[in-house]
Amino acid sequence: MRKSNVITISGAGSTRVPALVGTFIEYRDRFPVSKFIFYDIDEERTSRTEDYIRLALKTFYSEAEVVFTTDEEIAYSKTDYVFCQMRVGKSEMRSHDEKIPLKYGLLGQETCGAGGFSYGMRSLKAMIEMVNKVRSYSAETWILNYTNPAAIVAYGLQRVFPNDKRILNLCDQPYSLLRSFAKILNVDQKDLKARYFGLNHFGWFTELKDTAGKDYFLELKDFLKDHEFKPYNAEQRAKSWLDTYARVNKYLQYFDEYIPTTYLQYYFFQEEIVAESDIKYTRVDESFDTREKDVWELCEKAKQKNDFKGLKLLQDSVFGNLMVEVAESIAYDLNEEFIVLVQNNDIIENFEKDAIVEVAGTIGKNGAIGYRFGPIKTFYKGLMENQYAYERLTVEACLEEDYVKALQALTLNRAVNSLEKAKEVLDDFMGVSEEYWTLK
Ligand code: G6P
Ligand code: MN
Repeated sequence: MRKSNVITISGAGSTRVPALVGTFIEYRDRFPVSKFIFYDIDEERTSRTEDYIRLALKTFYSEAEVVFTTDEEIAYSKTDYVFCQMRVGKSEMRSHDEKIPLKYGLLGQETCGAGGFSYGMRSLKAMIEMVNKVRSYSAETWILNYTNPAAIVAYGLQRVFPNDKRILNLCDQPYSLLRSFAKILNVDQKDLKARYFGLNHFGWFTELKDTAGKDYFLELKDFLKDHEFKPYNAEQRAKSWLDTYARVNKYLQYFDEYIPTTYLQYYFFQEEIVAESDIKYTRVDESFDTREKDVWELCEKAKQKNDFKGLKLLQDSVFGNLMVEVAESIAYDLNEEFIVLVQNNDIIENFEKDAIVEVAGTIGKNGAIGYRFGPIKTFYKGLMENQYAYERLTVEACLEEDYVKALQALTLNRAVNSLEKAKEVLDDFMGVSEEYWTLK
C-alpha cells in the first residue's frame, strides 16, 4: 500500500474541481489521499460545488477526511501538495482580457497575445503572494501550479524564488494533444513517447514513437495534413475549441516539419481569427454557456440529495489526469515521462539559459527534469526569441511596475506587433486593472 497524502486544492471554487475530484477517486489506489482540503477565498463560489464534492467523496472515498475552508492556515500549514488553479479577477476580468484587444482588431484570447499580458500581470502578483504564504508554513510542500498564463507565471516565479525547487508549473495542452493523437493512431496514450520543444502554448511536436520504438510521426503528420484535427473528446467540446483544433491542419499546409500546438495559430492566423470573433461573445461567454453551466447544474442537483444515486461522477478530465499523475510521480519517485516546463539551462542548446521551456522530460521526487534537445533551427529560434522577450518584459514590467517595459512587451508580441495599438490596449487594460496592478 502506498503512503497516503494530504492535498490542498487552492482555488477550490473552480468549475474544474469536481472533475479533478473524480480523477482522485479514479486514482485512489495509485495516489491515496488521507485528507482533502478545499480552499478558496470566495466562499459563495465554493458553496455551489461543495455538496457535490462532499457527496462524491463520501460515496467513493469514505476513508478520506474532507475540509472546506477559507482559512489560509488550515489550507497551507499541514499539507503535502497544494494544487493551485487561481483565476484572479474571475470571469469578469477574463472577459476584459478577451474583449479589449478585439476593440483594436487584435486577438482576444486569455493566454496569448495582449489578453495573456493582462492576465499574466494579475496572476503573477497573486501567485507570488500565494507562494510566500505556503512557504511561511512549510518549505517542503509541493506547489503544483496550473494558474495561467503558465509561461508568464513560471518565468516570474523563477525570478522571484530562484532556489525554490518545489514549485512545478503545469499545462495540460500537450497531454491533451497526445490523447487526441493516440485516438487517431488507435494506440494507447500510455504507450506514446513524444519529443517536443518550445515555450508554453508556443511549441511543436518533433517525434512520436511507441514504447517498442515504432515511429508514428509521419503517419500522424500525413493524417493531420489531410484531415481536420479533432480533439479526442470532440463531442464534448464547444465550437471555439473545434475551430482551434481544425487550424492545425491549416498550419501544416504551409510548414509541415513539426506538428504545432493548437495555440501557435494565434500568431500565424490572427486576421482570420479576429474576423471570426464576436466581441460580444468570446470564449469566456461560451464557457459560461457550456462547461460552467453543465457543472453547476450537476452540482445543484446534489444539493437535495443524501446519496450519489442518479448523479454523474465527472472524470475523464485531462487536467485532472495530468495533475494527479504528476503528484503520483513525485510522491513515489516514478520518473514518468511528461511534457514539462523547466528552466532551459542547456536543454535547448542555442536558446536563452533562463527561459522556461516546454520539452519532454521526467518527473520524480526532485521535480521535473527536461531531456536535452540540442539546437533548434532559425525559424523556430526566431519565433521563440521574440516570445521569450515578450514574456520576460511582461514579468519585469509586473515586478518593477514599469510602464515602458509593459509597452515594449506588448509591442513585441506577435499578436500585437504595433506600437500604437500596444499603447491603446495597454492604457485600456490599466483602466480596468487598478485593483490588481499599476505601472509607473
Ligand atoms: C487548455 C490550456 C489551459 C487553458 C484551458 C482553457 O487546457 O492548456 O491552459 O486554461 O485550455 O480552457 P477554457 O475551456 O477555459 O477556455
Ligand atoms: Mn495551458
